[in-house]
Amino acid sequence: TYVVTDNCIRCKYTDCVEVCPVDCFYVGDTMLVINPDECIDCGVCEPECPAEAIKADTEPALNGWLALNAKYSAIWPNISEKLDPLADAAEWDGRSDKLKAVFG
Ligand code: SF4
Ligand code: F3S
Repeated sequence: TYVVTDNCIRCKYTDCVEVCPVDCFYVGDTMLVINPDECIDCGVCEPECPAEAIKADTEPALNGWLALNAKYSAIWPNISEKLDPLADAAEWDGRSDKLKAVFG
């Protein structure tokens, strides 16, 4: 499966949702996640993300992100249409402290 990782946080560009053939993105206040049970591994979303936040879950290092995507995709609403990015998206792009800033 593919997973949304930390650089989506507080950027939330949402280009990814427009290309997903199975509409498996879910939206929170500050980031999106992918439902790992619905993702068909097509890979088309990965190059669409301006923040390079979408990764193939092929490394054990991404297990934490997989769990977070699974957890929140069960809670957050589905999203299939692009939204405006968050107002301070460019400012947050690339910061390393995002997860802590949002999830504590
Ligand atoms: Fe959707 Fe394909 Fe991305 Fe999975 S890999 S989230 S199916 S676009
Ligand atoms: Fe996030 Fe990138 Fe999509 S920043 S909302 S994963 S386009």
